[in-house]
Amino acid sequence: MRTLLLCLAFSLSIVANAGIFDEAKWIGPAGHDLQSCPDYLPVFKIEFDIEISGDGSGSIVYGLNDPRLLDSNMNIHNLCNKPDSSGIQVEFTGNGKVNVYRYGYHPDDSDRPIASFDANIKPGRNHVVLANNLGHLDLYVNDTKTGYIGLNPIGNGGDYLAFPVLAEMAVYIPEEGHAAISGITVRNFREPANVIHSIPGIYDRSARIMLTPRSLPEIRTSITLPADKRIERATIHSTARGIYDLYVNGQRVCDDYFYPGSTQYNRTHLYHSFDLTPLLHAGENEVMARLAEGWWSGGATFVGENWNFYGDRQSFLAAIDVEYDDESHDRFFTSPDNWQYSVDGPLKEGSFFQGEIFDAAKTESSGRVWKPAVEIAIDSTVNKSIGDWSRMELIPSFGDRVTAVDTITAATMTEPRPGVYVYDMGQNMAAVPSLTFHNLEPGKEISIRYAETLYPDMPQYAQHKGMIMTENLRAAMCRDIYKGAGGATETFSPRFTLHGFRYIEITGLDSPLPPEDVKAVVLSSIHRLKAHYECSDPLVNRLWENIKWSSLSNFISIPTDCPQRNERLGWMGDISVFAPTATRIADVSALLRQYLRSVRDCQSPDGRFPDVAPTGFGFGGLLWGSAGITVPWEHYRQYGDISVLQEHYPAMKKYIGYILSETMEPETGIIVQNRAWGDLADWLSPEYDKTDKSLLWECYFIYDLAIMKETAALLGLQDDAREYDRLRDDRIGFFRKTYIDRSTGKTIWSAFDKKREGDVIDTQVSYALPIAFGIYDDEKFISNFLNTIERENVADDHTVCPPYSLMTGFIGTAWIMDALSMTGNSDMAYRLLTSTGYPSWLYPVTQGATSVWERLDSYTHKNGFGKNNSMNSFNHYSFGAVGNWLLTRSLGINVDNKGKIEIRPEVDRTGKIRHAKGWIETPEGKVASAWSIVDDKIIHTIDIPGQLTGKLIIADKTYPLKSGVNTVTVPIQ
Ligand code: BGC
Repeated sequence: MRTLLLCLAFSLSIVANAGIFDEAKWIGPAGHDLQSCPDYLPVFKIEFDIEISGDGSGSIVYGLNDPRLLDSNMNIHNLCNKPDSSGIQVEFTGNGKVNVYRYGYHPDDSDRPIASFDANIKPGRNHVVLANNLGHLDLYVNDTKTGYIGLNPIGNGGDYLAFPVLAEMAVYIPEEGHAAISGITVRNFREPANVIHSIPGIYDRSARIMLTPRSLPEIRTSITLPADKRIERATIHSTARGIYDLYVNGQRVCDDYFYPGSTQYNRTHLYHSFDLTPLLHAGENEVMARLAEGWWSGGATFVGENWNFYGDRQSFLAAIDVEYDDESHDRFFTSPDNWQYSVDGPLKEGSFFQGEIFDAAKTESSGRVWKPAVEIAIDSTVNKSIGDWSRMELIPSFGDRVTAVDTITAATMTEPRPGVYVYDMGQNMAAVPSLTFHNLEPGKEISIRYAETLYPDMPQYAQHKGMIMTENLRAAMCRDIYKGAGGATETFSPRFTLHGFRYIEITGLDSPLPPEDVKAVVLSSIHRLKAHYECSDPLVNRLWENIKWSSLSNFISIPTDCPQRNERLGWMGDISVFAPTATRIADVSALLRQYLRSVRDCQSPDGRFPDVAPTGFGFGGLLWGSAGITVPWEHYRQYGDISVLQEHYPAMKKYIGYILSETMEPETGIIVQNRAWGDLADWLSPEYDKTDKSLLWECYFIYDLAIMKETAALLGLQDDAREYDRLRDDRIGFFRKTYIDRSTGKTIWSAFDKKREGDVIDTQVSYALPIAFGIYDDEKFISNFLNTIERENVADDHTVCPPYSLMTGFIGTAWIMDALSMTGNSDMAYRLLTSTGYPSWLYPVTQGATSVWERLDSYTHKNGFGKNNSMNSFNHYSFGAVGNWLLTRSLGINVDNKGKIEIRPEVDRTGKIRHAKGWIETPEGKVASAWSIVDDKIIHTIDIPGQLTGKLIIADKTYPLKSGVNTVTVPIQ
């Protein structure tokens, strides 16, 4: 705790100092020492040369002895292969054929090839490339693509548990001397595709190929400080390409996680400054950094092509300043001259997606191989396709650190199969474990896996009953391995991975750990919540808890979609809808500011905002890109920091220009974007296909323009403000003409889909957005809107949804309650809120949710996971956007960024919720609002902090509120 406080206190006082790293070099291991963990590598290329004589044949074998296939508990087919009986064999024959065999990956695998290709095999030497990308194998012979095949029996690509991994390799030549394989090389898949393993020699007989795994790097130096001076102050400024932990004289400098955080590294790289004063002493001091993949390398996004998104290796940069009491000082910099590296350390793997492998016997830095560090050039180690690297700015961190915010002890333990111990933490979260082992034998290997849910006791899951369900983690392996040092007590708590889970599975122990030795350390960049809601309905209270947990889990350096599967990405659509809730329940001001810089860093030259930031990867379109407008606006509304709007405004302006010039169809004036599937609409709405997408894009454009007008006015740009206002009026006119049938007041299809032009839309979202954004609120329109809620609706999959079902997806869900409140229908809002059938907010709660789910039926007691074992996160905050309504409408707490307080509570007149209370924290203290229905009266209790005052507004009556507790009792009308 002491060191944590040190770095906390100190990082606040960071000031920009351009010259700080002037003499420092990015350093790391030499190119032949790239980290390698073959059992965890699902994206790679194998290259070799092969010569075949006569009717000979030669094969390369890989994916051999994948440990997951040797243990029936580690794969979903319950396979338990004997050594050397599972692998992928690619055979080349003298008659020009290539045969691909798969053994032991599926119960039906046999001796028959799963694919055969005619290949351009010539006499003499042939060059072969096997490009493996999450199950897809592309085969090249002599630079010609000869064939491709999906090797993964579960499914190929990022949506599935990934097979094969590189694992072990062999050469198979049945008749000695009839074929020769040489120049075997394993490379990274993504450019710069550097070599991970280079295997010397010519193989003309069957042999196992030895791949030597290499740990993630540690970088160290020794600095000698004089004995005759007192250290006044010592500081290290440091950062990494990758993530890192710093140690001085064996002591970890800071307990936070994942420095330097996630940014668009080719444009913005952050460094931190840590106070080393108490850790250094006269004489020799060891300074050491342990590096891991982080967001820099390894698994990133759900496509294999993005493996090693930024670069293929980690490196470290640091400057150490030591000031003495005589006003002299010493400076030390990372440099190849006096720093060393080791790839022989304890961290065999440290990956967000794949997990961590930690060999505790290797913890001591003495007794292993250290080599001179080398300077790591950008040129040959980063991916150039992501953009320009020459404008990268190295600046002091201004975001928010990821830290341990809670510790949870396992509630129960089950043993679904002998030796498989499954601990229920009782809560889904983003966390790392903290496991305490007793009397482990040295080298004992313990496997730890994670899941958000278990396979229930249903016929379709009979083979897996009670086991952890990892299919929804998809291609993220999420497996930690701890190798014990041996001793009375040792604790494993990974520092370089993160898991989204409720359940921890431990195997490899002879007897289970008692639950008290199994803990989860909850990680988040939200360090403290600053709002609370509770009411008389326990299911709504659980919904609030779930919103809270999904917020904690998804603010990890950046706002993410989910913390568990192979995404964890800054999807813009998700934060756009959740920002009003997030900014009220937590101080995410610094984090969002940093995130917005990534959004700008990823903005296209034509002004398009990305769908995902950092990375700039993904799909989504205008409803996602609009986060570039809505997020800074919500930031300003809550935190009142106009400088964020100032720095972001030019990008916002450019984006509006982009919509106008690049997304509108000239003939119709309709926003069409690219007519691609990925131009998303009301994502995951049960009636997604019923709404004209362009209607929703137009609504958001109009909303964006309203924000632009306000922003321009705030920044004193009156001409801009007038222009945006005019444009908004135009577009509103266009909207009314195009999307509303004036006679019925129903929403209709535009020429976006010529075949459906004029057809009635009449979905909840198609009314909710225009109402919430002040585009249209004619009486008929409103009554049609209400009707969509009161009636039965049929979902796209033909499910009949009862009245008061939530038919909206990510986008509509964020606005539907406001639209009801704004039109004076809060009673209907409460009926919608308290519905428990599918689809509704409370349905997941009735099905056991402890966090907000990606789908309202991610799991059901009736159908299990439905057919969604893969795209099915149990921790997505998007549907939790209703949190804002609970605070600002149900409790009515509206505090603007100048401290103006207006309480406009909307009491539940349906009688379902009898009382509600909660608060939002302001810089002056908590503004609390409570109401309860007692007999025929409503009692409002409002607590106003500090010297503030406010107003309570009920119907058309206003009551002044003074500082302190105010009670107002009104009759129920
Ligand atoms: C993510 C989302 C995201 C979406 C775009 C998903 O895979 O998890 O939350 O917004 O893709 O459709």
